[in-house]
Amino acid sequence: MKLWEKGINPEPAIIEFTAGKDRKTDLHLTKWDIVGSMAHVIMLNDVGLILEEERNDMLKALHSLFVWDEEGSLVIEKDVEDIHSQIEKEMASILGTTGKKIHTGRSRNDQVLVDIRLYTREEIDKLADLINSLFTRLQSLSDQYKDVLLPGYTHMQPAMVSSFGLWFGAYAECLSDDLLLLSTARALNNKNPLGTAAGFGTTLPLNRKLTSELLEFDDLLYNSAYASLSRGKVEMAIASALASVAQTLSRFSMDICLYMTAEFRFIDFPDEYITGSSIMPQKRNPDVFELIRGRSNVIQTLPNEIAMLTSNLPSGYNRDLQLLKQVVFDSFDEMKECIEIMLLMLNNIKVKKNIAENPLYNTIFSTEEVNRLVKQGIPFRDAYKAVSEMVKGSSFSRTSVNDYVHEGSIGNLCNEEIAAIFNERMKFFKNKSAAEMAEKMMGYVK
Ligand code: ARG
Repeated sequence: MKLWEKGINPEPAIIEFTAGKDRKTDLHLTKWDIVGSMAHVIMLNDVGLILEEERNDMLKALHSLFVWDEEGSLVIEKDVEDIHSQIEKEMASILGTTGKKIHTGRSRNDQVLVDIRLYTREEIDKLADLINSLFTRLQSLSDQYKDVLLPGYTHMQPAMVSSFGLWFGAYAECLSDDLLLLSTARALNNKNPLGTAAGFGTTLPLNRKLTSELLEFDDLLYNSAYASLSRGKVEMAIASALASVAQTLSRFSMDICLYMTAEFRFIDFPDEYITGSSIMPQKRNPDVFELIRGRSNVIQTLPNEIAMLTSNLPSGYNRDLQLLKQVVFDSFDEMKECIEIMLLMLNNIKVKKNIAENPLYNTIFSTEEVNRLVKQGIPFRDAYKAVSEMVKGSSFSRTSVNDYVHEGSIGNLCNEEIAAIFNERMKFFKNKSAAEMAEKMMGYVK
């Protein structure tokens, strides 16, 4: 069944090619397509386009489709193009003429826009929860190991004294900024495109504010033509936020791979969490972090992929846009899997305690020694010279590191301040699930 069938028999190869992977990809959207349709029929009754009885019948039918979907028995049939067509077909078969009224005043173009926005809103919130767990774990490791020193590197050369507290805490604060980007993408996403129809509005007197409230959007996407232009644009904002999180995961994974090498041995994991080699009996490999690094790096290509997909597209709906769904949905899944496995690993990380006692790292204390002389009144440049002579002549040995007091240094990590900012940012991620929304809509029938 093609919704746009007009007595011509479509060539099957054309249908297959144009449906592409949608029969599978669109299953991500099913429950949101139903919830969006519920809001739409409530609104159609509110503006007098359908009767109250028709609204109630349609809500009940949509609710039963929701239940089928939860049971896994709602599928997109072979001769149906996408989830929107499938739901419309089901509505017609349950309710006959009344069911067919579901498409009054809408197009699949605004339907897919609203479905994607509702789905990605939920995915963003799930991702924020995972980022919250990772942030919390990193901060607790930072607190736990705040006194365990670590050489800090610049140019990959031992540079200054750092600590596990500073290192873990750095990635926590990194995630806090990633979360700010994600909340911005969420704010751009949380606007209602429903009612813009094919991209040019409709002569039917829709109440777009009502569907916005019902679907708990912050506001409307006002201009109908902008609503269709926004497809690709909002995905780009989301992709940039995902890429930012991915960059954090990737760089952290790189540090872990490096710190696990035989040369560094700063950290380790129990044998059950690392991998071996089929030929070299001694191998203890950090495959998990290599795969997080690789997969996160692929996620970082997403903004580029979206730019390529949407560059030079004219305004209005273009079928190219269909291809955005899969790449964006996959990236959410990839990212969630990476964070989940990273959490498992971080729950088992082992930290080496006496790294800084290795004479190899003696010179990382040289800047502290310069500062000690500076505090005695010696001009910085003279102190620097004196200490560099000591370092050259190998007569240098470590000094104390008790003087780090300023904000963000190893002696004053400010983890509480960072957590306060993070928790403030977490407040933006808080919408209802599709099931809760569907229940709310069913309140109209009672
Ligand atoms: N599968 C389509 C998509 O994701 C749905 C919209 C179809 N609209 C159209 N005019 N062919 O873009």
